[in-house]
Amino acid sequence: MKKTVKDIDVRGKAVIVRCDFNVPLDEDKNITDDIRITSALPTIEYLVGQEARVILMSHLGRPKGQPDMKYSLAPVAKRLSQLLGRDVTFISASDVVNDEVRAAAAGLRGGDVMLLENVRFRAEETKNGEEFSRQLASLADIFVNDAFGTAHRAHSSTAGIAALLPAVSGFLIEKELQFLGSAVEQPKRPFVAIIGGAKVSDKITVIENLLNKVDCLIIGGGMAYTFFKAKGYEIGTSLLEADKVELAAGLLAKAKEKGVELLLPVDSRVAAEFKNDSPSRVCAADSIPADCMGLDIGEESIALFGERIRGAATVIWNGPVGVFEMPNFAKGTQAIAKAMAECAGTTIIGGGDSAAAVKQFGLSDKMTHISTGGGASLEFLEGKELPGVAVLQDKE
Ligand code: 3PG
Repeated sequence: MKKTVKDIDVRGKAVIVRCDFNVPLDEDKNITDDIRITSALPTIEYLVGQEARVILMSHLGRPKGQPDMKYSLAPVAKRLSQLLGRDVTFISASDVVNDEVRAAAAGLRGGDVMLLENVRFRAEETKNGEEFSRQLASLADIFVNDAFGTAHRAHSSTAGIAALLPAVSGFLIEKELQFLGSAVEQPKRPFVAIIGGAKVSDKITVIENLLNKVDCLIIGGGMAYTFFKAKGYEIGTSLLEADKVELAAGLLAKAKEKGVELLLPVDSRVAAEFKNDSPSRVCAADSIPADCMGLDIGEESIALFGERIRGAATVIWNGPVGVFEMPNFAKGTQAIAKAMAECAGTTIIGGGDSAAAVKQFGLSDKMTHISTGGGASLEFLEGKELPGVAVLQDKE
């Protein structure tokens, strides 16, 4: 267990908080989903209540180690001010920390909040450069990491700085570790995981790890076709990772050996082209026509998967089971979200595309927990230690 802001005296102190404000923006720089900002509020409000001088930092996008105003955190500062109901000082410094920023930080009074510019405007950030870590650390007395979404990155603002200041976690990281951790380590059974997405190669380690924990593993999405190939099925022009067929066969064998029920789709909605308006039909999983590709799961799979999900005591979902961005191929993914919403057990959404899908279908408030981390929650489910968490102080 890691120490949190409540385990350390923050009253009146200068506290630098790493958040993950990597939010989606439209062309006019409007924030289209602010869940990562609202999720950081409990920590920020707690610190404000303790009269701490709060300095927030985050990345936004991947600006290639140099200032690029397309990725400025200005829209986040604005939204934060609205949500907190107080001014948030924001200096759009291209070098992130400079004399003007130092002076502003030194001038903060108890309960004031400021936000630094995108830490990835500095090339050292993603290299965990020591000098940049020092510059960030020099602004504060205490470091708080609350950026769960970036906890799988060992960068200056997530890991490097923790070696230079007392370092504890915020409430978001605490909550994410609690939900994801207890789901995986002490699940109420039956424990069902749904793993989807395009590529097997992205999910190998998570499947391997979950096979040691779950009672039932449901596989969907583009990666299911590599498993079909391993079973000797005709997959037409469906997505295939030819070099992973053997590995998929190995995972099927491992599930059998461990007595884990591994469910693949029993039918697929197929079309000739990767286009929403391409005419589609449903066919059995083992007889996809040679000129068609699978783009979603079919009705029988929806029924089968839905039954397992509704009957589960714990469910974790990572990755869509079809091309849900195209309305004609979203039905399977929507059905998974709906079955989870109807499940009386603990339902956890492992971030990224599945979180976007649940939001798109208006079912977010029906889930026990929606992780704010895409890559981070995946690495957590792989059983890896997250560097941004490992650096924080342990509870005694
Ligand atoms: C995310 O959106 O997954 C996090 O903010 C991490 O972003 P990154 O993949 O660019 O490091």
